[in-house]
Amino acid sequence: MARIVQIPHKPRRRRFLGTLVGLTGLASASGAAGALLRTPAQSRGPFYPQKLPLDSDSDLVQVEGKSGLAKGEITDLRGRVLDLRGRAVAGARVEIWQCDAFGRYHHPGDRRNVALDPNFQGYGRFTTSQEGGYRFRTIKPVPYPGRAPHIHFAVTAPGADPFITQMYVAGAPENERDFLLNRISDPRLRARLIVAFTPTGGGSAGLKARFDIVLGQG
Ligand SMILES: [Fe+2]
Repeated sequence: MARIVQIPHKPRRRRFLGTLVGLTGLASASGAAGALLRTPAQSRGPFYPQKLPLDSDSDLVQVEGKSGLAKGEITDLRGRVLDLRGRAVAGARVEIWQCDAFGRYHHPGDRRNVALDPNFQGYGRFTTSQEGGYRFRTIKPVPYPGRAPHIHFAVTAPGADPFITQMYVAGAPENERDFLLNRISDPRLRARLIVAFTPTGGGSAGLKARFDIVLGQG
């Protein structure tokens, strides 16, 4: 059953971000005895923004004041934030950050001599709906030296400390040797961080990905 939730957006992005539809299905997150498997935590890494960009909305492929779109495979990334009993965590702040299509973070600490995509926002945030839903428009992450493709997440539920993790791409060959992903020894838990990117069949994003986050509360 589809639920429709109005979410904040910029007027020019209305076509893409006007609604949040159809958040159902959590079979992949099910654990024993009806409880959900907690999403494993991962390190924050060195590239969380030192200073948040002026444009920090949930559309990372379009930067306020710039006319171009980010390079890369545009992805409709959505999911829900839940507690261990599968109850929605509303009002949680979900932050994501990732490198651009050239593998470069928009962070002064990334000093590699590679091009920077000026049309990629690099960071975005979203406050979850009553159903715990979040949604971003971003790019499919790419590898950079030493790391499999990933998107960093920080989820801050009301009254709680931030929960930090990273999301990976199903089928990426770099996953086999990524030191952070493989630090999670339980394959069921590791699988909770690996997400399929599949074609949408049309619209303003060519790919879609679904990442539900189960916090260790409840
Ligand atoms: Fe990273």
